[in-house]
Amino acid sequence: MRDIKAETLAARGGLAADGEVHPVVPPILAGTTYSRDRDYALPEGQAAYIRGVSPGDLPAEHLLAQLENGFAAALFASGTAAAAAIVQALKPGDRIVAPRIMYWGLRNWMLDFCQQWGMALDFYDAADPKSLQRTLTVAPTQLLWLETPSNPTWETVDISAAAKAAKKVGAWVVVDSTVATPVLTRPLDLGADLVFHSATKYLNGHSDVIAGAVVSAVDSELWQKVIYNRTNAGAVLGAFEAWLLLRGMRTLFPRVRQACKSAQVLADYLNQHDNVLEVQYPGLANHPGHQIACAQMQNGFGGMLSIRVKGGRLGALAVVGACQLFLRATSLGGVESLIEHRQSIEGPASEIPDDLLRISVGVEAIEDLIVDIERALTKV
Ligand SMILES: Cc1ncc(COP(=O)(O)O)c(C=O)c1O
Repeated sequence: MRDIKAETLAARGGLAADGEVHPVVPPILAGTTYSRDRDYALPEGQAAYIRGVSPGDLPAEHLLAQLENGFAAALFASGTAAAAAIVQALKPGDRIVAPRIMYWGLRNWMLDFCQQWGMALDFYDAADPKSLQRTLTVAPTQLLWLETPSNPTWETVDISAAAKAAKKVGAWVVVDSTVATPVLTRPLDLGADLVFHSATKYLNGHSDVIAGAVVSAVDSELWQKVIYNRTNAGAVLGAFEAWLLLRGMRTLFPRVRQACKSAQVLADYLNQHDNVLEVQYPGLANHPGHQIACAQMQNGFGGMLSIRVKGGRLGALAVVGACQLFLRATSLGGVESLIEHRQSIEGPASEIPDDLLRISVGVEAIEDLIVDIERALTKV
């Protein structure tokens, strides 16, 4: 080739890989479009453009599909975008049945969307299996949404029983398994059609990526619609986020196991505390979801718990205000422990009591976490 101009060199800078470097970790595949050969064919399995298939997302998708024992996984730009792709797979006139207490942001969006889209949305009480059964069968249902343990009371639902009931009425079953993660529960093995994750939480684990994921048991009509929605509504995950997510997932097991161990110790400690009225954690024998959790969750009961403290709203705000190690922030599933006054986050329409504090247990030394909360609890 003759000498080429500087602007041509600049436009092509770094594009010719020499094939000599073999990194242990995969590179960030930031390209948005992929070149074809002289016959205008794409290499086998290669994407043309990343809104359809993003090569940078594939390693994390492949790993998550394996961890959930699924047919395939798809990453999204957020957990909410992933949930939207599932809900938008339904049509006007369809009906969704969901838990009364679930991640509030998603519940609010579902309420608005179903109203605008002409779909019905009815709620069941997750602590009462009869309520689920009744709500599911009272009218034709296309989608049963489960969240277990559910945010922020950590109620548990028997996925296997719910999936059997849903199959009888021909409804798809989706499980929000953000809090359980595949370390503790594999919903597809229990009969769910799709598993959903806010990958922003435990899958990534470092509070520096927003992402969502859907894993399907089989190549179904529902799965194809979800993929169609991701591509055509453009809710794909960026390459850097996918790369960070994969890096986070490599430590998923030790992070979740440590969080479970510490959460159990913290829950047992708080359960005895004079200034704590109630501890909500599925690992406690007095939690309404404990029996189901024992049967359904392996290796622990999760890193999330909530406490109700003496002194009402002011008592709760005094406790969060006095924490020095727990960070006052929403979200969950990171290596750092967080505490939040849940009702302040959810706003005036919230059903959550004003004395409830939600705790996401990280991987710090449990002794330090207990010292911090013990000191803070003197302020109620
Ligand atoms: C259980 C659960 N599901 C879904 C979501 C929504 O995910 P994202 O914030 O990634 O959109 C969240 C976020 O807090 C969540 O906690």
